[in-house]
Order: sequence, then C-alpha cells, then structure tokens
Amino acid sequence: MSIDNPDQMRGNVERLSDEQDVRAATAEHQREFPYDRGEEAQVTRREFCNFLALTSTALFVGAAGFAGKAAIDARKLPAYAPAKIEGAEVLPPGSSMNFRYPAEKDTAILVRAADGQYYAYGQKCTHLSCPVYYERAKGQLQCPCHEGAFDLQTGNNISGPPPRPLDRIELEIRNGSEVWAIGRKAGSGERLI
Ligand code: FES
Repeated sequence: MSIDNPDQMRGNVERLSDEQDVRAATAEHQREFPYDRGEEAQVTRREFCNFLALTSTALFVGAAGFAGKAAIDARKLPAYAPAKIEGAEVLPPGSSMNFRYPAEKDTAILVRAADGQYYAYGQKCTHLSCPVYYERAKGQLQCPCHEGAFDLQTGNNISGPPPRPLDRIELEIRNGSEVWAIGRKAGSGERLI
C-alpha cells in the first residue's frame, strides 16, 4: 500500500491505537463488552494487593501454628516403658551401680546415698560425654575427663566445664524394695555457679 497522504495515515494509526481509543482498537465482539484500560489497571492492582494480604496472612498463621506445636512438643516428655533396675534393692548405702535405660545404648548410673535414698542419671557428662562416676567422699557425681562435677540430689552442674545438668532418670519404688526407672528427662537450665 502506498502512502499518498501522510497526515491521513497518521490519523488512521492514532484512531486504531489502543492507547488512544480502546474501543477502536478491539475486535467487533469486544465492543459489546467495552472496558476502560485505566480502570482495568486499578482492579488488577487491587487484586494484587488482596492477593499479597491473603498470602501474608496465610503464611503468618501457618508459621504461628508450627511455632505453637513445636513449643508444645518441646514440653512433652517422651514416654519410656518402666523398667526394673536389677540389683538395686541390695545396693549398699553410699555406693553406686551402672544400668541402661531406656535403651541398651543409654548408659546410666544409680546412686544410693548414705541415707538410703536413690538417685539416677544418664551417665554421659554434658561436656564431652565422658562417663561420670559417684565420688563418695564428696557426695557428688564427677567426670574424670575435665574435672566436671554434678550435684547428687539434683544432677545440676556445679563445677568444671559441663554446660548443663545431667539427664535425670525418674525412679519409683515398687513392691516395697524394687527400684524401677519410669522416665528420663533431659538436663536443662543454666550453670548454677
Ligand atoms: S567431658 Fe566431662 S568435664 Fe569434660
């Protein structure tokens, strides 16, 4: 097609440009449902903002739910099956013995204090996992590796490098003299001195 009249051609282009006149630039069937390009953009922005708000809310609710569940789970003690500590009833006061609880790999120490009271802890030192032993003269649990020490009655770390108490094994006396392990609680809390 030859361009006889440049002004006329420019006019045609401007009339068909959808930037100038949306209705003129659209197909016949689209004229039945005209829309304003500016309003269309506004609706799109509004929808986008709504989408962002909904997405943010959903993410926040989801994260809060996970955090809440994690906090509840952290407070729950794992349930361990009770187990009789064989030989504990004949342990002389002022002595100790080793046993395993709740699994074979979980070494533990049972101490019978001079007053006859029983105490039990996981045997792994909370510093670098050396096995602790009962130091009768001091009435403490001690670690041979770096001279860490733990209180017999609470399991709390009282000197040396251990950063937290020993795991505590909960005990129960059954049938008059049998000593049973009924639970194990991870040591926690800050150093006492
Ligand atoms: S491993 Fe027990 S004090 Fe270091």
